[in-house]
Amino acid sequence: MTLHKNLLDIKSITDNEIEAILTKAQYYSDNKESKKILDGKIIFNMFFENSTRTRTSFEMAAKKLGAQVINWDASTSSIKKDETFMDTIQTLAAMKPDAIIVRHSEYNAPATIAANVDCPVINAGDSFRAHPSQAILDALTIKQAKGKIKGLEIAICGDIAHSRVANSNVELLSRMGANIRLVAPKYWLPEKEKISQNNVTIYDDFDAGIKNADIIMMLRCQKERWKTENSEFGEDYFKTWGLTIKRLDKANPNALIMHPGPINRNVEISDAAADDPYRSLILKQVANGVPARMAILDWAIND
Ligand code: CP
Repeated sequence: MTLHKNLLDIKSITDNEIEAILTKAQYYSDNKESKKILDGKIIFNMFFENSTRTRTSFEMAAKKLGAQVINWDASTSSIKKDETFMDTIQTLAAMKPDAIIVRHSEYNAPATIAANVDCPVINAGDSFRAHPSQAILDALTIKQAKGKIKGLEIAICGDIAHSRVANSNVELLSRMGANIRLVAPKYWLPEKEKISQNNVTIYDDFDAGIKNADIIMMLRCQKERWKTENSEFGEDYFKTWGLTIKRLDKANPNALIMHPGPINRNVEISDAAADDPYRSLILKQVANGVPARMAILDWAIND
């Protein structure tokens, strides 16, 4: 088998590779007409879990670069006839796609696929572990909005324990020199001893956690990953942990709001905060999903 470039998580790519991907992403963001550098390539888009943003933007990114995309659907596949996951992967790999994009609920499933196929594998989100393309588009969005990442105070707030977005963003943004605050109820915070980075701190008080922050990244409450029902969830949760315009007063006056989506309105974020035309970067994040994923495909398949 040939050695391929995979994007499995942020920790497995180098600082130079991160810089190269972000430079390409900015290029694709600036240049709406792109060269068809993936003309003739065929990419499998394999989503074993639901998605709106990631799946559509990967498809759009691939098509903008001239590739053809096959959207493989688990619900209509032979998995429904009891074919095993590995038999499915090997069957599809035998058709020799030029890349596989995969989202899966199992921990590290993209790495298992990468070890068994002869093409680049791009992780579109696995379990609560990693969502590297989301972190790359978030870094692109922050750089465009603030002109830098180094030295920024970035508060990542909410259901951190179940968030692959939080994991990948902590890894990427702390490596790029931001100071990261993890802000959540105690039961969703990691143990202090398990945090390896010097520039990551934890807060179990929302107002203290966002004080003077430059970026407030809210996270979706991921009920589907909770092992037990959380009695605080709902109105009480919003009162204590929801972001509102009023609460933004605690942050830096120029603080910007982010959320990877999908958002739970009035659960972790108010309508007014989510839709604020000056403070909210949420739709900018969605838009940046396309150039960021063009850059990832270009780097993985073409470089
Ligand atoms: N942010 C994100 O991964 O959204 P989707 O689940 O819609 O792809």
